[in-house]
Amino acid sequence: MIVAIDGPAGSGKSTTACGIARRLGFYLLESGAMYRAVALACIRRGVDPVAANIGYVLDDTKMVIECTKRELGVVLDGEDVSDALRAPDVSRAASVVAAFPTVRDRMVARQRVLGERYRDNPGLVVEGRDIGTVVYPDADIKFYLTAPADVRARRRQAELMDAEGFAAFRRVLREIQARDQRDKSRDHSPLKRADDAFEINTADRTITEQLDYIERLIRERIGM
Ligand code: CDP
Repeated sequence: MIVAIDGPAGSGKSTTACGIARRLGFYLLESGAMYRAVALACIRRGVDPVAANIGYVLDDTKMVIECTKRELGVVLDGEDVSDALRAPDVSRAASVVAAFPTVRDRMVARQRVLGERYRDNPGLVVEGRDIGTVVYPDADIKFYLTAPADVRARRRQAELMDAEGFAAFRRVLREIQARDQRDKSRDHSPLKRADDAFEINTADRTITEQLDYIERLIRERIGM
């Protein structure tokens, strides 16, 4: 089975996807890590993420993607970059490169290969922006997570404080809003809720309540 989870930055997709994969024993595919990897490849090559450079960066980069039950492992040009992908400059550049059709076409093709590999054995939880709308419109069940921008910025700020010791709320909020705007307004596969997705506001649920609720809906859907 494929469980699709979409939503904006800080809506709780990653925590939810990871928790659900663990509870159901499914593999996890964080599609955003692929766009982050392309962004990091641009940054490391010192090239601006503009249309003229993207084809070169994609052809010049060796990206090995490995799904596990806990995270998406990404090896870029021989180096494990799974941690480096979370840096704020990579987040910013990811939403820029993710707007290019060539980048999306290549990443979506890879996501579909992984989907076919794990869909029936053991099952796959996929999270991103366009999973239920474009990558797997036929997913067995779809969720769209939301929360107000200030709640999402608070969560992101707390993560950055853990990682870096300091993060200014107003800057984090501005970056989240800028990223929302880029993700929702791009022509190719913009962030939006699939018509048949369950919409869940994560602002007033604890993570355990949220996981319990989503797990129950999945089990009802597949009768397990
Ligand atoms: O965890 P967070 O939501 O902050 O970011 P992410 O899911 O790792 O995604 C990083 C960026 O990649 C997003 O801002 C999107 O621009 C892009 N993305 C996308 O376009 N399509 C996806 N399926 C996943 C991510």
